[in-house]
Amino acid sequence: MDHFGYREDRLFAEDVALETIAEAIGTPCYVYSRATLERHYRAFDEPFGNYPHHICYAVKANDNLAVLQVLQRLGAGFDIVSGGELDRVLAVGAAPDNVVFSGVGKSVAEIKQALCAGVRNLSLESEAELDRVNAVALGLGKRAPIAFRINPDVDPKTHPYIATGLRENKFGVSATDALHLYQRAAGMEGVCITGIACHIGSQLTQITPFCDALERVLDLVNALSEIGISLQHLDLGGGVGIRYCDENPPDPAQYAKAMLEILQRRGCTLAVTLEPGRAIAGNAGVLLTRVEYIKPGPDRDFVIVDTAMNDLLRPALYQAWHEVVAVNPGSGEPRNCDVVGPICESGDFIARGRHLAVAQGDLLAVRSVGAYGLVMSSNYNARPRPAAVMVDGAGYHVVRNRETTAELFAHEKMLP
Ligand code: LLP
Repeated sequence: MDHFGYREDRLFAEDVALETIAEAIGTPCYVYSRATLERHYRAFDEPFGNYPHHICYAVKANDNLAVLQVLQRLGAGFDIVSGGELDRVLAVGAAPDNVVFSGVGKSVAEIKQALCAGVRNLSLESEAELDRVNAVALGLGKRAPIAFRINPDVDPKTHPYIATGLRENKFGVSATDALHLYQRAAGMEGVCITGIACHIGSQLTQITPFCDALERVLDLVNALSEIGISLQHLDLGGGVGIRYCDENPPDPAQYAKAMLEILQRRGCTLAVTLEPGRAIAGNAGVLLTRVEYIKPGPDRDFVIVDTAMNDLLRPALYQAWHEVVAVNPGSGEPRNCDVVGPICESGDFIARGRHLAVAQGDLLAVRSVGAYGLVMSSNYNARPRPAAVMVDGAGYHVVRNRETTAELFAHEKMLP
């Protein structure tokens, strides 16, 4: 449930008409809804009730400072995957002991940065990383709190690029390797075993893979306890999907219920960490764009808009489907069309095979782009990235200025 909707044929974000924002800020422009972010955070937090849990929002989904700030104020922790994301969460005042550091390729500098900041835990994904973290911690005279990320080898049934819990994926360690790694870690001076982690993929629309993964991780928790290794927390990762089109993903409450049932049945009392990204931010954002031209094509028309794959990569990269709607419906003839950008690639499309009533100059909204939208943008074709706005009730704030082309080449140097 989000806070974007029509009032008398005008699309609003909360109490602000989107056309107002487009007129004041220009297009393309990302628009986020604070009330939606808050609602989605609570939808995860509340069903876990009294069970000890931390919601560590996956910063990669949308790392805008204002988005992080909204969540931080609600008590969220953060799941980060880089030193840059750590800087961002610290900038909004996050407590480092509510930050978990995931990712398969942490550099020495990033490990140092995380240990000096005092993050709650590093999720390790290989033996080489264990050795590196141990050495870095010893060098700093610290003990690194660690978990291993288990690859439970379950099929999340999502797009192959965002499936991470299959044996052939680069992520995590197998249950067999994990036993050996935990034993090695237990004998190291520079690490302190605190937990276990798992994340099997993103945009999951079924509950079963989450359940299968949790059962497998709990088998491992038991096996570890039998060899005298006890843990304090269990990180279930993110991955709960959202509705883009006609998907029917489990809602956070159903997900929580399923996880709690398994935890209770298996007698597990470990504190749980969740790392939702998309389910919090995805439907909390739209991308406003204006129609530049309409160009007839052989089978259907091309609606050429002022946003492109550099602003929103998901359609090109994952053939992702995003709903495109008219901000002020009523103008233009209904037509079969592809909504495409100005970039010199045939892969530069926002939406294909749509039926839209649209005319030149109209304002469109691309929906469900609050997660993995602006964070994945680029400056391809020397295109400045869009502005971003956060709507809050009847007001709004610019939370990212539109880039200028001068900024784009500010870091470049001409030859002498
Ligand atoms: N935790 C870990 C360790 C992750 O790798 C991810 C996402 C998450 C949490 C958050 O997952 P979520 O709740 O958002 O599904 N760019 C892709 C998605 C990549 C997801 C990568 N990892 C897309 O646009 O669909």
